[in-house]
Amino acid sequence: MKRPLIAGNWKMNTSPTAGFALYKELLSGKNAGAFSEDLEWLVLPPFTHLGAFQQLGGIQVGAQNCSQHSQGAFTGEISVDMLSDLGCRYILVGHSERRQYFKEGAPELIGKVSQIMIAKCIPIFCVGETLEEREQGITEEVLERQIREVFDQFSYISVDVVLAYEPVWAIGTGKTATVEQAQEAHAFLRQLWSKFVGENRAKNTRILYGGSMKPDNAGALLSMPDIDGGLIGGAALNANAFLSIAAEF
Ligand code: PGA
Repeated sequence: MKRPLIAGNWKMNTSPTAGFALYKELLSGKNAGAFSEDLEWLVLPPFTHLGAFQQLGGIQVGAQNCSQHSQGAFTGEISVDMLSDLGCRYILVGHSERRQYFKEGAPELIGKVSQIMIAKCIPIFCVGETLEEREQGITEEVLERQIREVFDQFSYISVDVVLAYEPVWAIGTGKTATVEQAQEAHAFLRQLWSKFVGENRAKNTRILYGGSMKPDNAGALLSMPDIDGGLIGGAALNANAFLSIAAEF
């Protein structure tokens, strides 16, 4: 049975001090029973916060990015092994902000996914169309390209990849995909994914929705058959909002 996953993507927000305070607030929520055991919880803070969060413990941490290389002379990069040593099991790959602002494309993403799989960690692999692409009616084409250009390179997908559908036009804009638009994209992704991992594994693959998910729209989105959790940006920076999204399950 698939366990829904709620992940908070903090992006480049909060100082280590402020982030630690937010982590502790979430932990108090958890200790007060706000976290259902039926849900898997995850926060993706900036790298600089990971050590302190791991020491305190209590809520699972993951990373927003990783290097495509395993180790060596790559100034400024952070390897999957370093992240794994800090307790990260999940690592975000292919977020639209990385694609757009840092020009990450297939070669980088293939390297990252491969490092993550070698370490037996789990990529949360993001895909999503721009507004222009949606208006041109090529959403499915774009999603298929984003998946194929990376996963066609692997003869066997050895870990239980998590997919995240994040329409670019809904990220940080306050615009959310309608439940029908989101469900349609998720169902398409699941069907496509079955060509890579087989029907059974695809059925059990978690596909998260991301893009302005908030307490007031989370319930409707999460009730759809192919939406297995959320990747939450803005609302994850507020403990109450993040906790109330979970309450929607
Ligand atoms: P948002 O971000 O919830 O602020 O739209 C989601 C994301 O980028 O993962």
